[in-house]
Amino acid sequence: MQIAVLKERRAGESRVAASPDTVKKFIAAGAKVTVETGAGAGSSFNDSVFQDAGATIAPSAAAAAGSADMVFKIQKPMTAAEGLDEVSYLKSGSILMCSLGALTDKPLMQALATQGVTSFALELMPRISRAQAMDILSSQSNLAGYKAVVDAAATFGKAMPMMMTAAGTIAPARVLIFGAGVAGLQAIATAKRMGAVVYATDVRYATKEQVESLGGKFIVVDEEKMKAAQTAGGYAKEMDDDFKKKQADAVHAEVLKADIVITTALIPGRPAPKLVTAAMVAGMKNGSVIVDLAAEAGGNVEGTVKDQATVTANGVTILGYTNMSSRLGRDASSLFAKNILNFVTPMLEKDTGNLKINWDDELVKGTLVTKDGAIVHSGLAG
Ligand code: NAI
Repeated sequence: MQIAVLKERRAGESRVAASPDTVKKFIAAGAKVTVETGAGAGSSFNDSVFQDAGATIAPSAAAAAGSADMVFKIQKPMTAAEGLDEVSYLKSGSILMCSLGALTDKPLMQALATQGVTSFALELMPRISRAQAMDILSSQSNLAGYKAVVDAAATFGKAMPMMMTAAGTIAPARVLIFGAGVAGLQAIATAKRMGAVVYATDVRYATKEQVESLGGKFIVVDEEKMKAAQTAGGYAKEMDDDFKKKQADAVHAEVLKADIVITTALIPGRPAPKLVTAAMVAGMKNGSVIVDLAAEAGGNVEGTVKDQATVTANGVTILGYTNMSSRLGRDASSLFAKNILNFVTPMLEKDTGNLKINWDDELVKGTLVTKDGAIVHSGLAG
């Protein structure tokens, strides 16, 4: 089985879908690995560390993918309309593994099907315990939550912990986190480690205990509605207007007192809920910082500009960076690569390393988007 690892060409992407560690493990499992030259440059993995791990270096994407049975990428392939047709590198019958954004890009899925590519959308990995080690959303969100706090602390013109010095006492920073999922919980843990006082809110009541176990203070809005706010898949539901009003009232005072606000609230398939209004931002202290991790989905904050840092008239900085995990390229790549390794290893026959996919497996069915020239995922039916 021949694996190819391609270089990412989209702007702002530093990650690579393999690490020297996963290359070694695939080779030990009987596969051959080719890495496109420069693929790891943004993650501090140069060609020689991949070579030392046993990979062959290919001079171009076309050369790497040309003989591959399986292609690993971080982001979905670019199309001719974007200036480079990466789909054309993929040979008919090969398998593509990456974060495809499948449910929101049917034309690309059709192009992959037409090309004869079998594609897996790793962002659709079912959220069951067996799949935790394969979950790219989880591994990348965790790093994003950490980086959000680090960015906020670097932008904030005050210290995070309480400091008692001969010249006087500095109060600890007050941090407020919206959304206590994977990114939010890591943001709470990071801010606590830095010595901040941390408040958090979520619509799912189950997160209360998790926030408190990390030392955060949880803002309850409506206990009954919060207990019904979680889907079977573990995600949040869209809340009704009555809840939204109560939530805005409950958090308003906390927003005004906060030095740093980090928002991570998402609802799958919907625009991000607007939780911090322009009026709230206008009431915040000069020098406060907001990091809107939901910027990609439209933002949780009124005034967020995607991929930009903006400063409001009252001196509040709003950071709207997307793809935060890419800004921790090396760790993000290592974890993404490990997610792929954990997903693909059970597809390889133990003795030969040959590909033998169990098409009935729940994780395969959940992520498989194109096969045999057609789109096969139920989320794209019709
Ligand atoms: P997410 O990225 O979709 O959302 C982030 C957070 O925003 C969630 O906690 C959500 O409840 C919250 N939220 C949504 N609307 C909100 C609002 N209006 N106000 C405040 N908060 C709001 O979710 P994420 O972080 O990807 O994970 C969600 C769940 O999935 C968690 O329960 C997590 O434990 C579970 N999970 C399970 C995995 C597995 O079993 N394989 C892997 C990863 C996560």
